[in-house]
Amino acid sequence: MKLIIQGGNTLRGNVRIGGAKNAALVLIAASAIAGGEVILDNVPRISDVEIQLEIVQALGGRAEWQGQGRVLLSWPDKLDVAVPYQLAKKLRASNLFLGALAARIGHARVPLPGGCDIGFRPMDLHLKGLSAMGFEVELEHGFINAKARELRGARIYLDFPSVGATENIMMAAVGVPGTTIVENAAKEPEIVDLASFLGGVGATIRGAGTDLIKIEGTRTAGAFGSGRGSRFSVIPDRIEAGTYMIAAAAVGAEVTIENVISQHLQPVIAKLQDVGMEVAVGEDSLTVRRSGPLRATDIKTLPYPGFPTDLQSPMMALLCLVQGTSVISENVFENRFRVAEELKRMGAQIRVKGHSAVIEGPTRLLGAQVKATDLRAGAALIVAGLAGEGETEICHAELIERGYEKVAEKFCALGGRIKYVD
Ligand code: EPZ
Repeated sequence: MKLIIQGGNTLRGNVRIGGAKNAALVLIAASAIAGGEVILDNVPRISDVEIQLEIVQALGGRAEWQGQGRVLLSWPDKLDVAVPYQLAKKLRASNLFLGALAARIGHARVPLPGGCDIGFRPMDLHLKGLSAMGFEVELEHGFINAKARELRGARIYLDFPSVGATENIMMAAVGVPGTTIVENAAKEPEIVDLASFLGGVGATIRGAGTDLIKIEGTRTAGAFGSGRGSRFSVIPDRIEAGTYMIAAAAVGAEVTIENVISQHLQPVIAKLQDVGMEVAVGEDSLTVRRSGPLRATDIKTLPYPGFPTDLQSPMMALLCLVQGTSVISENVFENRFRVAEELKRMGAQIRVKGHSAVIEGPTRLLGAQVKATDLRAGAALIVAGLAGEGETEICHAELIERGYEKVAEKFCALGGRIKYVD
């Protein structure tokens, strides 16, 4: 699939943000802990979510869309313990069923996800956590096999505030008798959303959003009933919102981003103000306005509430267009500068050295044939294509569909000229 973009149009108007991909993916897995029927609202209809719903069905559950953004999940009393490799290999977030199944049935068999385009992405911290709680964890034939043995609450220190490890440990701990404490936990809003959901179905979790989370678990069957929390609405997607904010800075006049939690976007707001954009923050929307020439800034990606690594590539595209020298340091993943090679095909002046990229601007970006190496690199190439002169063709554009619902329609509604072609 390709995206064809004609550059040079100014973006203006309103765009509505959907539910957070990285919250929806973990909530779909966590629904297995509640069991019974769970309705999730504000779920983005994107390919990663579709795959996660296929895994629900493969495990014996039911998953069906019920109109705009609403998914009905229902789980039988008996469910399968193994996530199929054929589905897991398409989606790293399939690994989130590890904690959910461990909590629900005391056993989980989840394919070890391979590395991907942005880094090795091991699961050592996930496994360290489950072992500490008394799960017997074995790696066999490409699967992680976790079985409940002597389960007990544990104190787990995460060497890195891993989002996925925090989520898997939280979910598993819900099914472990006693108190589990996670230190140096991830603080992303998606972690808080998961804790809210689990609290809604009867779990006791304190401290989500801080670096110390306490979970009171139990092995009592049926302790968590979806009867008490069968409906839950996913938070807005801060990364989708940030992508449109950055696009507005690149080619906007004035764009209003609707359905956001502006608190989740503080690092992006701060950085766009650094480069010279005006950002007016409303109740559940914000308006990004360009009032003059933009200037360089430095970006350091960090775990939340630092600048999000998922917006590093779109920011790189923007920084090609501004006056001055910008330095980006990527501190979360090992290999997340691959989009620089594609931007250089459009004329960008970027020097990558280890964890740093130095961007000289402003550069006249020229439309070219480029490829999306990962979801967020694809988003960066859309920003570059909208700003570039002439036509840009992004191949492997199906990667963008993984995380951005109706991306061509949304940019067209803002005045961009962009369309998918098979
Ligand atoms: C989540 O991935 C997100 N995905 C990613 O978004 C996001 O980039 C990332 O968090 C960081 O914010 C989902 O939530 C589905 P991590 P996750 O574990 O959980 C290392 C997107 O584009 N690490 O916080 O896999 C790891 O190698 C995606 O929407 C270990 O060393 O990220 C990485 O360098 C991309 N050992 C760092 O931690 C472990 O056991 C951060 O990874 C686990 C992680």
